[in-house]
Amino acid sequence: MSKALDGLRILDFTHVQSGPTCTQLLAWMGADVIKVERPGVGDATRQQLMDVEAADSLYFTMLNHNKRSLTLNSKNETGKEVLERLIKKCDVLVENFAPGALDRMGFSWERIQELNPRMILASIKGFGPGPYEDCKVYENVAQCAGGSASTTGFRDGVPMVTGAQIGDSGTGLHLALGITTALLQREKTGRGQKVTASMQDAVLNLCRVKLRDQQRLDHGPLKEYSQFGEGVEFGEATPRAGNDSGGGQPGRILKCKGWETDPNAYTYFITQAAVWKNICDVIGKPEWKEHPDYATPALRLSQLNGIFDEIESWTMTKTKYEVMDICNPLNIPVGPILSMKEISEEPSLRDTGTIVDVEHPERGNYLTVGCPIKLSDTDVEVTRSPLLGEHTDEILAEVLDYNADEIATIKESGAV
Ligand code: COA
Repeated sequence: MSKALDGLRILDFTHVQSGPTCTQLLAWMGADVIKVERPGVGDATRQQLMDVEAADSLYFTMLNHNKRSLTLNSKNETGKEVLERLIKKCDVLVENFAPGALDRMGFSWERIQELNPRMILASIKGFGPGPYEDCKVYENVAQCAGGSASTTGFRDGVPMVTGAQIGDSGTGLHLALGITTALLQREKTGRGQKVTASMQDAVLNLCRVKLRDQQRLDHGPLKEYSQFGEGVEFGEATPRAGNDSGGGQPGRILKCKGWETDPNAYTYFITQAAVWKNICDVIGKPEWKEHPDYATPALRLSQLNGIFDEIESWTMTKTKYEVMDICNPLNIPVGPILSMKEISEEPSLRDTGTIVDVEHPERGNYLTVGCPIKLSDTDVEVTRSPLLGEHTDEILAEVLDYNADEIATIKESGAV
């Protein structure tokens, strides 16, 4: 089966997590992704959080599948010549260096356009233009600066970062969309263009509902927040809302059978207005269906704590899976809190290719997350990440047409 991005060649200058997430997606969709790494050093994550001696870390392997690795010193004169040749042969250059690093290497946007006017230059930076544009940024900095941390956690606790890597992987996803749309536009214009995604912007985009609430505050309290029912006044900014649902339908995380010993024996439970009567029946409170204090969503807002206490006394008698089995047929939205162990052992996720087993020559078998986007005409086969410089000779010969003597000279120069 052919793949959506067959024939597309990506010069992948990314490292750590944000950029590699983007290029891994493009590789899964069929692009030939050439990962450029510093000779003898490579992407720093190869050696971060190592769990198997002398083997690339899971941090690296899980972000760099389906790519080829070329070692190249882009600050060496011969290395620069090789890089120029690569720029002429590739469709997209993706990078997430610190601000200005590409310019300092001698590859400004103007220079790249001179070399290849069809080239798309795609960059991730921590911040867009403004007071912080020169900062180096990592995941949690972006979560804090993008509005996620101030709105995550409990009202009486400190701001919290989330385990979802919305700053890194979230920005990588945004960039992948930018690249594919720029490629579509190039079909019409014949020109490349510059695509940038800042981590602060990407996090804010994912926190859109919290900016919505910031503006709603000007017109009164946020009635669906637990704090409204608790009679706690709102301040000037969107508060942290614990596990309250971000939509208009109140929801909470509730204990299930076994919660005393199992840290994940919980369910998310949403009191969807349309199925209120079903909820009343399930929890054994049929009298609440038409009760003057509970019958409408507006009446319930001021007493959500009591309502959820009652629902929890029912969920505590069931496992999180039983809650799901009982509520789903009644259209009551619930979700078991699944641990990473449970997810990694879930057969249906293996069947869909969402969880994949990969064989690696240095570390043996490991699990990874496969492509989360399914295209009916692109079958994604996850192949292991490359060893450092594994494809250097192959790329110099096949992509750049260097002959054996030329390759030997390049090697002698220390460029690869
Ligand atoms: N050959 C020669 N030099 C190379 C090279 C290669 N193949 N690859 C990288 N380098 C050089 C860079 O040119 C840079 O040199 P300079 O400082 O002289 O300009 C140097 O290596 C370090 O690169 P840098 O990107 O600054 O790495 P860092 O480890 O200091 O910072 C980040 C890491 C992630 C903080 C930074 O890259 C960054 O802020 N990136 C943008 C935001 C981002 O993506 N953050 C999330 C990462 S998950």
